[in-house]
Amino acid sequence: MKIIGTGSSLPKKVVTNDMLSTFLDTSDEWIVTRTGISSRKVISDERLEDLAVDAARKAIEDAGITLDEIDIIICSNVVNEFVTPGLSCVIQRDLGTKVPTMDLNAACAGFIYGLDFAHGYSMVHKDVRNILLVCAEEPTRMMNWADRNVCVLFGDGAAAVVLDCTDKENDCIKEVKLSGVPAVESLYYKRNLEPTPFITKEKEPVPITMNGRDIFRMATRAAFADITAVFEKAGITAEDIDYFLLHQANIRIIESIQNHFGISPEKFLHNIEHLGNTSSASVPILMDEMNRCGRLKKGQKLIMSAFGAGFVSGAAYVVWDK
Ligand code: ACO
Repeated sequence: MKIIGTGSSLPKKVVTNDMLSTFLDTSDEWIVTRTGISSRKVISDERLEDLAVDAARKAIEDAGITLDEIDIIICSNVVNEFVTPGLSCVIQRDLGTKVPTMDLNAACAGFIYGLDFAHGYSMVHKDVRNILLVCAEEPTRMMNWADRNVCVLFGDGAAAVVLDCTDKENDCIKEVKLSGVPAVESLYYKRNLEPTPFITKEKEPVPITMNGRDIFRMATRAAFADITAVFEKAGITAEDIDYFLLHQANIRIIESIQNHFGISPEKFLHNIEHLGNTSSASVPILMDEMNRCGRLKKGQKLIMSAFGAGFVSGAAYVVWDK
């Protein structure tokens, strides 16, 4: 399996740190120093499914294939306006195709999980030609916008990749390591369900609740462990890698992983400055930016790593072959 096309789509509304400080007790200086984020793009009048479909169309075009060559759509998503059907079904409707679809929720690690499950699916179903993996996220709809601890961190966006499964001799997904530890209380969001005549539980709608320090600690630990496991399985070292595409949650997390492996900062790509944390879309948005500006070259060795609520994490070693 190999990545043959990428696409992304972002909301038009840019929200700067200074804009946040008009209604929150925060400052550009605090946010930049603690997170590396200067601005983020936030959904206003757009629908998430429109961003997802736009990203998907761009990825299909970049792959040089047609829609009818896609055999399954997988969508990674944490929250969107539909509880059911899955966002992948809505994407299929709007693209105008008829294939199996499924959603997966591995929080911000969804792209790595999606890649690994697509890889496994392609090995079992040998007649599958291309898989469309879309990551579409609007985390800003889960925030309490009066909570400065959380709402400054996130932005919205969508990205997609086309995975070609036809070249069985040349598999570019070299190694993947997925991990999980139970830590639900460190980061969660509970949705509002309808009352029933039988419900006696107290209603407890809670905007996203996060223990930032716990997440920071678990994120750095998990990323070191996942990436190290991938290196060991593949028989390579950090020196062999051309670029690291890590989940864009906090520049300090990225820097601590870079320091841990003792690798030059130029190898650690980032766009967190202008997008913030776009959940599972962050790694494929970054990949699409790098693909489109010509920075990714055939044969380059990439490490992708992401983590999210759960606590779940994963890393993938991929050779760029496009
Ligand atoms: N502006 C100003 N002050 C703030 C802000 C803000 N936006 N947010 C918090 N503070 C205050 C706190 O209230 C605290 O004040 P106090 O000392 O008076 O109590 C002070 O700043 C320091 O807070 P800390 O929690 O120590 O700050 P820290 O350096 O840990 O940075 C942060 C906080 C940015 C949240 C960091 O812990 C972090 O990035 N954690 C990881 C979060 C993350 O990645 N979440 C998502 C991952 S999973 C996924 O992607 C879905």
